[in-house]
Amino acid sequence: MKITLKIQRFNKEKDEKPYFQEFELEAEPTDRLLDALMSVVTNLDGSLGLRKSCAHGICGSDAMVINGIERLACKTLIKDVADDNNSAITVEPLRCMPVQKDLMVDQGRFFETYRAVKPFLINEEPADGKERIQTPEERSRFDDATKCILCAACYSSCPVIQEKNPAFIGPAAVVNAARFLFDSRDRGMEERLPVLNDENGVWPCENHFNCTRVCPRDIKVTKNINLTKREIKNYNVQQ
Ligand code: SF4
Ligand code: FES
Repeated sequence: MKITLKIQRFNKEKDEKPYFQEFELEAEPTDRLLDALMSVVTNLDGSLGLRKSCAHGICGSDAMVINGIERLACKTLIKDVADDNNSAITVEPLRCMPVQKDLMVDQGRFFETYRAVKPFLINEEPADGKERIQTPEERSRFDDATKCILCAACYSSCPVIQEKNPAFIGPAAVVNAARFLFDSRDRGMEERLPVLNDENGVWPCENHFNCTRVCPRDIKVTKNINLTKREIKNYNVQQ
């Protein structure tokens, strides 16, 4: 089938503002959008800037806004976003982060928020025996949050960050805090509280559920945020 990719371009060294450029190409309905973008780079315009690595939905580097919705280009089939011959597919960079070039954004703040929640096991107590044992039930409490690939699709889709509070730490940071807060081996609540229990921590979330809808790993992002809010409230009551 023939498709038209309508891609947002921006090169800060020569463009005053972003603009759309159209590329017409042949693609199979079962091709991935990433294949079509790489065909543009290889055959039509090698200056197109985009990030990708694994091409299998694992590294999280090719999240972009496709027909208005955050998705991974490598997990998006042409037939899912174009339904007839020569239909246009709009491709834009993620929102809420400055564009570096074309489809590449500066993820600096996104990763700052991730690091701020201390996404690692905190426990100064000596392990009982060789390792810290937990039951399958204890393990299942944080299973969902282990699936995050840090693609930033949720961060880009968040209406709170977009329209009200760009300082909100955002959904992915809370998911990665939840990964450890709900781990029976972790003792890091006190150390994470200054970031999570802050006015820009978990509390600005208004349950829009955009993050949950766009997450390519099907993480229940909003649920993780609400469970974290409840955990903080319970912790504060006990202090
Ligand atoms: S929670 Fe989902 S959408 Fe957000 S960064 Fe992780 S994998 Fe991506
Ligand atoms: S290229 Fe790695 S997730 Fe798409």
